[in-house]
Amino acid sequence: MELIDVMLKRRSTRKFNGQPVTMGELDRILHAGLLAPTSRNRKPCNFIVVEKKETLKELSESKDHGAKLIEGADKAIVVVGDAMIADTWIEDSSIALTYMHLMASELGLGSCWVQIHLRSKDGCDSEGIVRDILKIDSHYRIVGILALGHSDDIPKAHTLDDMDKSKIHFLV
Ligand SMILES: Cc1cc2nc3c(=O)[nH]c(=O)nc-3n(C[C@H](O)[C@H](O)[C@H](O)COP(=O)(O)O)c2cc1C
Repeated sequence: MELIDVMLKRRSTRKFNGQPVTMGELDRILHAGLLAPTSRNRKPCNFIVVEKKETLKELSESKDHGAKLIEGADKAIVVVGDAMIADTWIEDSSIALTYMHLMASELGLGSCWVQIHLRSKDGCDSEGIVRDILKIDSHYRIVGILALGHSDDIPKAHTLDDMDKSKIHFLV
């Protein structure tokens, strides 16, 4: 598939059908994350793959809104940026998430970015909640989680007409 076709096909998918993601598919997605560029090539991101149903459920309850879908995913990849390695952990983690989201689309899988950084659950910081679930230290920062699975409900691909070209400005 051409890159533009993958970009058009990439949609946020929030319903999964329970079919397991194979190790081959997972590898391709994780490799995409590892191939993402990072500032000064510091590579601060680690990728924690969650498969246990009870942990997926815990993650799905880590913020007030927008994480429930993780419960139905086959897997979740938590992108963990080490702030001691790079002050660009937000940017580096975001690019890695995007690469993996695109690779999932290329493979015909459904996936969805679930924002954790700057989110909360009942007034508690969602990053702290996720760190407690994963048992990791506070210098590991969490931009988001990629929920992943096969799906019969991937939304319709975007089309080139969906683009809002008014966002493009030529400085004359
Ligand atoms: C930074 C970022 C954070 C997002 N957080 C969530 C989230 O927490 N929960 C969710 O269901 N979708 C989340 N999304 C998905 C967006 O809602 C989605 O990308 C947007 O509505 C456009 O739809 P599309 O991805 O199908 O093109 C997030 C996307 C981005 C880029």
